[in-house]
Amino acid sequence: MENVLKNKHIVLGITGSIAAYKAAYLVRALVKKGAEVQVIMTPAGKEFIAPLTLSTLSSKPVISEFFSNRDGSWNSHVDLGLWADAMLIAPATAATIGKMAQGIADNMLITTYLSCKAPVFIAPAMDLDMFAHPSTQQNLDRLRSFGNQIIEPGEGELASHLIGKGRMEEPEIIVAALEAFFSQKQQLEKKKIVITAGPTYEKIDPVRFIGNYSSGKMGFALAEACAAQGAAVTLIAGPVALQTQHPAIHRIDVESADEMYAAAMSSFPEADAAILCAAVADYKPETEATEKIKRETKGEMTLNLVPNRDIAAALGAVKRPDQILAGFALETNNEQSHAESKLKRKNLDFIVLNSMRDAGAGFQHDTNKIDIIDADGSIIRYPLKPKSEVAFDIIDHLAMLVNKYD
Ligand code: PMT
Repeated sequence: MENVLKNKHIVLGITGSIAAYKAAYLVRALVKKGAEVQVIMTPAGKEFIAPLTLSTLSSKPVISEFFSNRDGSWNSHVDLGLWADAMLIAPATAATIGKMAQGIADNMLITTYLSCKAPVFIAPAMDLDMFAHPSTQQNLDRLRSFGNQIIEPGEGELASHLIGKGRMEEPEIIVAALEAFFSQKQQLEKKKIVITAGPTYEKIDPVRFIGNYSSGKMGFALAEACAAQGAAVTLIAGPVALQTQHPAIHRIDVESADEMYAAAMSSFPEADAAILCAAVADYKPETEATEKIKRETKGEMTLNLVPNRDIAAALGAVKRPDQILAGFALETNNEQSHAESKLKRKNLDFIVLNSMRDAGAGFQHDTNKIDIIDADGSIIRYPLKPKSEVAFDIIDHLAMLVNKYD
């Protein structure tokens, strides 16, 4: 990857968590990549790591007070906020996350955050129960709704010796998130992308449905990656328990294949491209019972199923030459030939193949292993990666095709 962090101004906020020791590695990694780093510490942060360590590594005095000297001079949070190309808060404690979410500007870090026009990245670090608490989760959702990017904590042994989710992500992953942001941002600028994600539910009666195991993770990762690169995204999501982060994502929640079909057909004419990642039910019950079906009255039961409309094929049929249509194929056998036949049948520009036979690929995992098959028959094979990185691989491919029409 080209050195995208070179000369970038990064404001690094460090708060009072045991993970503050990792901030030293973070500063060193950022400086090594050519970034200029200005550290701001909360008073509690200074209890965990010495400012001298950080000022030595960053070659800049650490800022933590509004007034550094008793000579009338003061540190300007406004100047710092404007200087930043990105602000990163790592580690971010529950207290700082709460203050950021509510605008409680009682220290230099929060005032700088409120003045900052640059993108903000937050790497939480806390005990598992604090992280899982609805208060913390609501504050994080609020920060996401401001367009801030949360770098999710990892799972493992915590300072309390409890095991769970709350460990600040490793410095190299945080640096990679910044690099991904700076390198990918422009690829889809001003493009409109429609994405389908998640499963569909086909109702049998008011309490039962036919569905599948899709979590929406792959489709949501694609939506975030497209938005991070400047696209306006319409995300048509089946029933999933996921939140969107980026403000450029317009989310339409649907339940059934028919609802997904209607939303996709009405969004596509305005779009430059569509990526169809949803696991759409191929069949639905012929009739939907209006009341709960009772075992006592029914005994043995047969469900008549009728085919759902194929959204991909319908979009493929109306696709203009300047639009790109990408689909997915989830296969269990004869993967390549099934995917190639879907590519042709649905008039796609490329298809992303993932196989249930690959460990860590497909439904629900945080990782995926894909092959991209192009309409001309060429195939690019990728190793197993986090879905967030897989999304960028797919988008690199998409951007190449979409930008052909500029
Ligand atoms: O959501 P996750 O848990 O992260 O899992 C990700 C995933 C496995 C769901 C994803 O990577 C994936 O493979 N999505 C497509 C799953 C699928 O239904 O594949 P398919 O081979 O049945 O369908 C082929 C293509 O046609 C897909 O683009 C699908 O969206 C589309 N299709 C299928 C049926 C239908 N009625 N309408 C469609 O548009």
